[in-house]
Amino acid sequence: MPHIVFIDPDGQEFQVLVGTGMTAMEAAITREVPGIDADCGGSCTCSTCHVHVDQDWIDRVGRARGMEEDILDFAVNSNDYSRLSCQIRLTPELDGLRLFIPRWQR
Ligand code: FES
Repeated sequence: MPHIVFIDPDGQEFQVLVGTGMTAMEAAITREVPGIDADCGGSCTCSTCHVHVDQDWIDRVGRARGMEEDILDFAVNSNDYSRLSCQIRLTPELDGLRLFIPRWQR
């Protein structure tokens, strides 16, 4: 089963086993990863699932577009590697993905 890793602002890592087809947000909620609140339940409207994708992974994950990009424009600590984790659909190719949780979310 693939896994992904969330890293909190203090560097603590949370390894999460995921099923293919889950979103990264769903994986975080399942594991109760601190800092991923997902207030809107994954409808791309709240930004409380904001993460920074590890630079080594951004090409495989892809960058935010459309409505997601618009929401991230208003998110604290948004940068070129920002994604809403509810919009990252996990596939076997993303096994080992590393996602950083911005400090503001804790
Ligand atoms: Fe609200 Fe992702 S859960 S934008």
